[in-house]
Amino acid sequence: MSWIVEEIGFDPNRITTNGNKFMLGNGAMGYRGTLEEFKKEQLPACTLAGLYDKVGDQWREPINAPNGLFTQLILNGEILSPLTSRYDSHRVALNIRDATYHRDTAFVVGDNRIEVRTRRFLSMEHLDLILMKVEFRCSQDCEITVRTGIDGDVWDINGPHLQEYELSAGDGLIGLSCITQELKKSVSVAEGITLVGAAEEVLIQDSLSMLREIQIKCFAGETYGFTKYVAVGFGDQREQVSKTVQSRVREAMRDRYETLLHRHALHWERKWELSDVEIEGDDDAQFALRYSIYQLHIIAPTESEKVSIPARGLSGQVYKGAVFWDTEMFMLPFFLYSQPKIARNLVMYRVHTLDGARRKAAEYGYRGAYYAWESQDTGDDACTLFNITDVFTNRPMRTYFRDKQVHISADAAYGIWQYYEFTGDDSVLLEGGAEVLLECARFFYSYSYYKEEKNRYEILDVTGPDEYHERVNNNAFTNELVRTTLEIAFKAMAVLESKYPEAYASLMEKLDFSEDLGKLSSMLGQLYTPQPDPATLVIEQFDGYSKLEDVDLRTLKSRIMDKNEYLGGGNGLATTTQILKQADVVLMLHLFKNRFSQEVKKANWEYYEPRTEHGSSLSSCVYALVAADIGNSDWAYPYFMRTATIDLTGDSKQYVGTLYIGGTHPAANGGAWMAAVLGFAGLHLREGKVLFQPSLPEHWQSIAFPIQIRGQQFRVNVTATEVVILSDNRNKLQQTFQVGTEERTIEPGGRSSFPNEGKRRGDGLAG
Ligand code: BGC
Repeated sequence: MSWIVEEIGFDPNRITTNGNKFMLGNGAMGYRGTLEEFKKEQLPACTLAGLYDKVGDQWREPINAPNGLFTQLILNGEILSPLTSRYDSHRVALNIRDATYHRDTAFVVGDNRIEVRTRRFLSMEHLDLILMKVEFRCSQDCEITVRTGIDGDVWDINGPHLQEYELSAGDGLIGLSCITQELKKSVSVAEGITLVGAAEEVLIQDSLSMLREIQIKCFAGETYGFTKYVAVGFGDQREQVSKTVQSRVREAMRDRYETLLHRHALHWERKWELSDVEIEGDDDAQFALRYSIYQLHIIAPTESEKVSIPARGLSGQVYKGAVFWDTEMFMLPFFLYSQPKIARNLVMYRVHTLDGARRKAAEYGYRGAYYAWESQDTGDDACTLFNITDVFTNRPMRTYFRDKQVHISADAAYGIWQYYEFTGDDSVLLEGGAEVLLECARFFYSYSYYKEEKNRYEILDVTGPDEYHERVNNNAFTNELVRTTLEIAFKAMAVLESKYPEAYASLMEKLDFSEDLGKLSSMLGQLYTPQPDPATLVIEQFDGYSKLEDVDLRTLKSRIMDKNEYLGGGNGLATTTQILKQADVVLMLHLFKNRFSQEVKKANWEYYEPRTEHGSSLSSCVYALVAADIGNSDWAYPYFMRTATIDLTGDSKQYVGTLYIGGTHPAANGGAWMAAVLGFAGLHLREGKVLFQPSLPEHWQSIAFPIQIRGQQFRVNVTATEVVILSDNRNKLQQTFQVGTEERTIEPGGRSSFPNEGKRRGDGLAG
């Protein structure tokens, strides 16, 4: 089965899409899949994780570093590029097994055919290092000019972010260092090359770029080439950062490309060992799912707990490089089951941004922690009050994502608790996780309303996941998550109190929490959470939803006047109807699958599915998950494929209003993994027990994958007739598994084959 994503031929209309599709990354930086000769008009970007900048009153967004891979080959004054030159073949490919980018083009200049071949990777071993090998061969003797170096004229959406450029050259290395506008951080890039065969080089510099020009006398049929070693860094001290990147480049040049590639590939081998999902009987699904997993690996913070994963990964500055609830709800499960260390980094990010969340709560007059809807380095909210521009008037439109999507605090709390339940790692609670949980619970108490006549707490004036209906009351999803947050806060306190009484006491004191305890427990006892209607079993998405116009999606779409018009907000077409942007109640049914019967899940899936526009890439996977849960894998399958192929096809919403929202879709990538493993294989962790309730698509022979639970490694293989579980020899603990109705405990190194009782349409509806 192939691990190669490739495109043959060159289509200028696909430059942006392919920048996303062929992306490389190592969690610390992302490098778009653009050609080496491209300038900023073609949107190359080396996007740095965790460094943001704001210019004037424009949006704050991540930094794109100067492009250290910039390279042009010039023949007779002509820059070789498929944009402007003749070529007779062109291919780009991404090997997702070892995360290497390959480019092969044969240009034709007169009678001369010049074959150009490049290979590049972002080291998974040294997260500041990028390497590239360039080779070329001509069919006729000629002289090629190689222009290569660091292009500091970077693509920015709301820039320019970099200033005070300093160019340097010495000891064979060139360097470019600059300062960000807002925080005055230094960003430095160093580059060194090794060239086969001696050649004279001339340095060419302008105010933004530092390039070398090298003339190479080429003999027909001979291969020439060079390797580029590039390091990128940022920090407070300009000199220090420059020194670090220079010494990284020197060290890399000593180690050499092949050795570094080999070591990088070993890291990737390990990643796949821990996470590869093998599907038999469906090559398309296999490929798309692997690709989705690749996308998650390239943006995962392996070494830092100060960054999380932005909604568009590291594919550029889109969406302000902001971290949304996408991480906890759609990506975290993949990391929990495959690489809990990375999951830990992701949840610790919420600990490090707690002060920002406290500031936001205070700003709105609440207590506790109200997390940023769009979170960056400090946890202050990057979301603006006017987040969308109306396509008709070209005026900014008031949106309430920032003010009213309070579920974000519950999502953050849920993520922390998920991590704790999966790993049993108390350190996260002790190092600030418990504090976050308590502050989130406190926020919800201060946000809630106690309705005396009904003797219940309600959560009013919120926006749920369905952003087309803003400022609604008692959104079922939000209320259920608020309840869960309160429960989690009490559970965390119980853990601390029994195991770490001193830490418990000092946290209570620090937060002055003792008075809150009674309040929270009263709220937990009396919190209203919308329940299924006894007759229809449908859970109303929010108070009054069922009274809205019940129009079908096709009719709603026939009312659209501009393909980019926003359907929510004050005048949005969906606002007054039952059409929802994305899974809302249905997502709640997935998250709390044990709290609701199969009949309820089915009734709600059937009710909400035709009313969902899937205007967010977060939606399809949820419909896949719940369809698989109720035994309808044929309903689930198209939703799974839509999710898993999103970054391969590039078919996704590119504009909301006038705002460009293209880029990669990590939540959908995580959703693809969830649909396959949690949906079709039916994996679920409940009170320390691992459950499987498979519902495989008819044409799948099997799905096999590794999982990690509480530090123990297992391998699972699900077929239509059995579920085989292997416990790794190195495991230390036994683990209980339940498949269908059968429960067994597997010893370290043991193997067990359970019958797959299967789930077909409507099975298990008894609850
Ligand atoms: C969705 C949000 C999501 C955000 C970032 C929006 O379109 O409605 O739920 O968090 O995109 O992916």
